[in-house]
Amino acid sequence: MEALAILVAAGRGERLGAGGPKAFRPLGGQPLLLKAALAFEAAPSVGALVAVVPESEIEPARALLRPLRKLHAVVGGGARRQDSVLQGMKQVPDGFEGVVLVHDAARPFVDVPLIDAVARAAAESGAALPVLGIVDTVKRIRGGRVVETLDRSELGAAQTPQGFRFALLTRAYEEAFRDRVTLTDEAMAVERLGLAVATVEGSALNRKITTPEDLLWAEGVIAQAGVRA
Ligand code: CTP
Ligand code: MG
Repeated sequence: MEALAILVAAGRGERLGAGGPKAFRPLGGQPLLLKAALAFEAAPSVGALVAVVPESEIEPARALLRPLRKLHAVVGGGARRQDSVLQGMKQVPDGFEGVVLVHDAARPFVDVPLIDAVARAAAESGAALPVLGIVDTVKRIRGGRVVETLDRSELGAAQTPQGFRFALLTRAYEEAFRDRVTLTDEAMAVERLGLAVATVEGSALNRKITTPEDLLWAEGVIAQAGVRA
């Protein structure tokens, strides 16, 4: 069964700074949201796409994404990321028994092999996400002082898309909302139930555009020949 992808693009982009909603910032002439959506449009594992955007951007987003054959719905998001994901989940058709992939629109260089790998791992294991090894030495800090150095070999940075059998994500979200937990990603909701989350190898290009420096980096990537533009 083909996966359904939820692209969350309803954030305010505060760390990126002024210049309009982050998901609509152009990168090489294409808004971030469109760039990310085109990867899912091209991925054989994906059958439908839901975009979650700020209320004020629903119509512009519909116009932007209209050419995509897999587009299923464009809806308004919520105050927190998890509220936006929940709005996206409400668009999943009744009786859907496949995998849902939740992706940050702020990761425009996601590629088809990564999407398909997460979808496959989630179908097999129930939950899966891409992780990238950490290159820096990581310290635990308290009150401006180093408490300890963490074992880098056991650490990974979580990326998206994160994939889940829909019934599993529904249950994990219900319990997280019931317990008033703040989630920074979807896998966290599953982890806290004590259930396994599988990992696939993340991609350095699949960086989240968060700061102006990230945008500069992304423009550099676009300027390089041979990278999907
Ligand atoms: N997101 C969302 N709804 C929210 C908050 C975040 O859909 N209420 C989405 C963002 O649009 C983004 C992804 O979640 O694609 C990751 O969030 P982040 O990088 O933090 O983006 P913003 O929240 O927009 O940025 P900032 O935190 O700097 O304001
Ligand atoms: Mg944010």
